[in-house]
Amino acid sequence: MNALLVEDLNVHYGTIHAVQGVSFSVNEGEIVSIVGSNGAGKSTIMWTLAGVVPPSGGRVLIKGNPLPSKPHEIVARGLALVPERRRLFSALTVRENLIMGAYRRRDEESVKAEMERCFQLFPILRERLGQRSGTLSGGEQQMLAISRAIMSDPKILLLDEPTLGLAPLIVEAVMNTIIRIRDEGVTVLMVEQNATQALEISDRGYILEAGLFVKTGPGPELAMDPEIRRAYLGG
Ligand SMILES: Nc1ncnc2c1ncn2[C@@H]1O[C@H](COP(=O)(O)OP(=O)(O)O)[C@@H](O)[C@H]1O
Ligand SMILES: [Mg+2]
Repeated sequence: MNALLVEDLNVHYGTIHAVQGVSFSVNEGEIVSIVGSNGAGKSTIMWTLAGVVPPSGGRVLIKGNPLPSKPHEIVARGLALVPERRRLFSALTVRENLIMGAYRRRDEESVKAEMERCFQLFPILRERLGQRSGTLSGGEQQMLAISRAIMSDPKILLLDEPTLGLAPLIVEAVMNTIIRIRDEGVTVLMVEQNATQALEISDRGYILEAGLFVKTGPGPELAMDPEIRRAYLGG
């Protein structure tokens, strides 16, 4: 059974038809990427999956069951979104941001255990616990944003442009962590504008253009596709 199945998804903003009937699936244990340029509709798809923007048509199934309509119900079903541009609480410390991600957990022990899991992935965060998140580097902020989502113990992690604005070495570190998170049993769906690295680590990829998929295939194959390289990957 698919971890996530999206069929004929449509999203409108008033008269703007931002997502025009896209269908895709994510199997358990996969990394799947949706790649497209600015304004293609990537974030809109993510917002719809997270329950922030209502679809105007189509259906979404999580493990065969309809997606709940309220964001907190969706989190409870095991979906967690790392939004574009991190959206951290910049005046709050690293520790406070992590605890905000754990709002589903009541007992201190499991919060501690989840925090420990984040430190295994990103050891630097342990050293930064008392620091305000707004003063972290871009890479550290992305690590914190991913960790905050991990705190809800998701089955499916949604990443909206996780490498946006990061230096190449940091991009590589983030990609390696995404592989590790998947290897630890979390299914990953990410959208990216900087597509090469995302496609290279993806089991499958979808190319999104003006609200429509124009191509799909194994991630590494798409990453090598000359036509796609010309159009999306800067040659
Ligand atoms: N809140 C909104 N209201 C109206 N139009 C929007 C809104 N958010 C996004 N759009 C439009 O929907 C289209 C897709 O946007 P978006 O999903 O943010 O694309 P991407 O994430 O791929 O850059 C764009 O044309 C954008 O201008
Ligand atoms: Mg976006």
